Amino acid sequence: MKTINTTREMRSAARDLRSQRARLGLVPTMGALHEGHLSLVRAAKAKSDVVAVSIFVNPTQFGPSEDFARYPRNLEKDCELLEREGVEFVFAPTVEEVYPRGAVTWVTVEGLSDRLCGKSRPGHFRGVATVVAKLFNIVEPDVAFFGQKDAAQVAVIKRMVRDLNMAVQIEVCPIVREPDGLALSSRNAYLSPDERKMALVLHASLQRAQKLFNEGERNAAKLAAEAKKAFVWQPAVKLDYLDIVDPDGLEPLETLDQKSLVAVAAFVGNTRLIDNILLEP
Ligand code: PAF
Repeated sequence: MKTINTTREMRSAARDLRSQRARLGLVPTMGALHEGHLSLVRAAKAKSDVVAVSIFVNPTQFGPSEDFARYPRNLEKDCELLEREGVEFVFAPTVEEVYPRGAVTWVTVEGLSDRLCGKSRPGHFRGVATVVAKLFNIVEPDVAFFGQKDAAQVAVIKRMVRDLNMAVQIEVCPIVREPDGLALSSRNAYLSPDERKMALVLHASLQRAQKLFNEGERNAAKLAAEAKKAFVWQPAVKLDYLDIVDPDGLEPLETLDQKSLVAVAAFVGNTRLIDNILLEP
């Protein structure tokens, strides 16, 4: 496995591969890798000839009062995990490498970027879209892999790729959960043992939504109100949103008569966690 730190070297390695007609898969990450990331890597290994994983904690997707400085970083351990998975390239650039001094160009996916997490994290999706566009420009992958856990991010990236005529295929992989249902996230590492127990309320609210849906409830407002009741039993967890939207445009739905995304975000102590399920009639 080769670790690359500069855009010049990454671009030239990717171009060499393309000249050999190898199908290149990219898994963009911010490091602090867990089984969720590794499931993306395994999907990439299955669907590409050569796999590159980027590890870059992207400052522009964090708000001023968010956790950029303390976001978990452990490049050495991440590389060990990736080596074991048979990854060929790790791209771990510095901030200066990705954002040249004086950079003023942004990618904004209008509308979608202000919904779900975009509503409570202004600028977040502009940072995500911009860095993912940069990674696509540098690596020029044939296919890129993202997790369904960040459902709004998936919608933003798919729309960017479509709108900007990017020649990359987007593959979305299922959420990986702990045995008790908690969705894997690098931010779970922030949780105290008590918070870890309280965090299960996110999954519980989604299960409640799934149950009501299975029983025939199709009114989005009623379903959301019922799902939110799970939070009554965990007053220490602060619900940010629980919304039912269409998974592509992230527009709120009134009736669940099409594929629907139930997305939830909540603060468990100071840690903001997200989760979601897709409901299909
Ligand atoms: O999902 C993430 O880890 C990040 O948002 C991404 C896609 C790597 C962009 O920084």
